[in-house]
Amino acid sequence: MALKLIAGNWKMNLTPEEGLAFLSALGNVSRQDVTVALFPSFVSLAPLREAAGARNIRLGAQDVFWKPSGAFTGSVSAPMLAAVGVEYCIVGHSETRGRFGKLEIEASQLPYFSETNETCRLKMEALLANGITPILCVGETLAERESGATEATIAKQLKEGLAGIDTSKVVVAYEPVWAIGTGNTCASDEAGRVCRFIRSEVPQVKAVLYGGSVKASNAAELFAQDGIDGGLVGGASLVPDEFARIIESA
Ligand code: PGA
Repeated sequence: MALKLIAGNWKMNLTPEEGLAFLSALGNVSRQDVTVALFPSFVSLAPLREAAGARNIRLGAQDVFWKPSGAFTGSVSAPMLAAVGVEYCIVGHSETRGRFGKLEIEASQLPYFSETNETCRLKMEALLANGITPILCVGETLAERESGATEATIAKQLKEGLAGIDTSKVVVAYEPVWAIGTGNTCASDEAGRVCRFIRSEVPQVKAVLYGGSVKASNAAELFAQDGIDGGLVGGASLVPDEFARIIESA
């Protein structure tokens, strides 16, 4: 049976102190049948470890560099993440791939942020070697969707990103780029259809999540879809009550 997972990606929000206050306000959301994980910034991982563990909430990181150590200023490696109790790590988020829903930076700067399918693959190799479950994000931009290239885009991200990787140890998140942080959730039946397409391409994966403007008000409908095993939640994971209701819907 697929893993049921609700993952809260805090992105570049909440200091360690604010993260601890969030956990206190969240209360007891622990459930037998659903795994809950939070993805704070790197600096909050160690400070939140104990409080998260006490609530049966797993820790995840938002990114990783694939080399184990060395002269890579500003980078964090998989052994470092494992050492502070990280169990999950996002790879290939549209924001780190440089595929922004709303272009808030100059197009000419995009290559500086770009993560490629090949760097995603290297990151997943490093994570798996350190016992951390990668959550590989895939999804199409609005232009790709409108030109009928949704499946082809996702199939390429899966094929190149997961080449040589043991997919039974990986979670995939379907995150249509146009739905991230925009309030434009993908219709639940369409989200389910694409998640089933992902499952058909990579049948062994641990779980297929949906991400993109998941809220308490639409979570139940999304999670009821055949093929959706949980959610990768951004903005709504920053509000304790909202996040608790999303977990209840799973
Ligand atoms: P959102 O972000 O829920 O704020 O749209 C989702 C994500 O980026 O994973």
